[in-house]
Amino acid sequence: MIGAGYVGLVTGACFAEFGFDVVCLDNDTTKIDKLNQGLIPIYEPGLDSLVAQGMKSKRLTFSTNLKESVQASNIVMIAVGTPTNITDGHADLGYVYQAVKDVALAIDGYTVIVTKSTVPVGTGDEVVSLIKQTRPDLVEGVDFDVASNPEFLREGSAITDFMRPDRVVVGTDSQKARDVMQRLYRPLYLIETPILYTNKPTAELIKYAANGFLALKIGFINQMADLCEKTGADVQELGKGMGLDNRIGRKFLNASPGYGGSCFPKDTLALSKTARQLGAPCTIVDAVIEANTARKLKMAERILQRLRDRKLSKPRVAILGITFKPNTDDMRDAASLVIIPELLKHGVDVVIYDPLYYKNSDCLPHLAAQGITWGSEVTFASNRKEATLDADAAVILTEWHEFRGIDLSELQQSLAKPEGFLPLLIDLRNIYKTNEVDGLHYLSIGRSEVNNKIAI
Ligand code: UGA
Repeated sequence: MIGAGYVGLVTGACFAEFGFDVVCLDNDTTKIDKLNQGLIPIYEPGLDSLVAQGMKSKRLTFSTNLKESVQASNIVMIAVGTPTNITDGHADLGYVYQAVKDVALAIDGYTVIVTKSTVPVGTGDEVVSLIKQTRPDLVEGVDFDVASNPEFLREGSAITDFMRPDRVVVGTDSQKARDVMQRLYRPLYLIETPILYTNKPTAELIKYAANGFLALKIGFINQMADLCEKTGADVQELGKGMGLDNRIGRKFLNASPGYGGSCFPKDTLALSKTARQLGAPCTIVDAVIEANTARKLKMAERILQRLRDRKLSKPRVAILGITFKPNTDDMRDAASLVIIPELLKHGVDVVIYDPLYYKNSDCLPHLAAQGITWGSEVTFASNRKEATLDADAAVILTEWHEFRGIDLSELQQSLAKPEGFLPLLIDLRNIYKTNEVDGLHYLSIGRSEVNNKIAI
């Protein structure tokens, strides 16, 4: 497994759990040293015990010695990062191609080289050419084959997603490589996981198309939420009513402050760029990207408007949750990174509480990159109650479990009560019902605003 990052580590640990011998490689020696000491560099529920089990059984090892590891393996998976190239929005394949060259130089027997990283359509064929260029002595089909095997892991539930996937996609034209991949995924046979064999470009595109379509579902329900607000309809029930149609499905129809994370923003952008470049523009995906970017700013404006209504001289807002979704420490493209700077720009003080970040400061660089620096205007609370005490609004940005069970009467007591208004709870994840928020001015998304007209 080349790359001991999120995908490489989860995939490697899971294959070791399935009984295979796996060596995870990384050129970051500190990371490998830490892994060898049992220290996991990322937060993913269940991963620490899975890695510990793998290490104990000696099926999972970590190394920086690529040559030796490749020569001892018959499958090499490339799971390095493909970040967005900031100059043109394409996926940056620098790490993938470097890994391919290193692997090519090391091959000394039939090896299936598998791209796990999300790579643009056509990359698999490029990989074949690069191997031949690097090692003209190697013959495709005899010494090596290339396959695409995209991952569909969600952060926060990656291990379950791996162990019980909806499907596995394998793209290769080589029967020999298919046989090898079939053996690799043999453990999923018992739970009857569909395994789709196709060619490389289709497999590569399935990954982008799936993420693009899921992003589209979110973009669609978010626009429906706006429409609900204008009409008195309820987006939760709307989503349910739509989703009960099996052709649509209930999942990914939760209105939100916009999708974030390391995948949807990056992959939709890369899909849009590739499609345009190839002369088959995906204008639907373009519209989703644009709407999602605008949505985050719109959410900030929604908060600011309610604060303006209250004519507060120096409002203070408690932000509950800053990661892009629960059960992850990932801040990439989180709505918080747009909303918090916007609040600060308009003179609002912010106090943050996040169940994962209250005890460490790893999020500070992400915030700093958005111009959010520590000081009197932004502070961290060590618990939810401390954050909301006397705050002019509590804003739920991430639906952490911990926020689902807040005692709303206690919250009502602790929030500020400016004259003429009820304490303000803004729930951008719709985790409460509109009929359980007595005594609070409750603003959610795609549903009626509650108690906003009560002037005491
Ligand atoms: C996503 C896909 O779900 C995975 O299948 C895929 O493998 C992964 O990207 C990837 O490409 O590696 P992930 O980014 O971990 O996984 O997270 P999701 O659970 O899909 O959530 C993404 C964003 O969409 C989050 O900001 C979430 O809050 C938002 N979302 C999700 C909504 O706003 N509404 C929904 O109904 C669902």
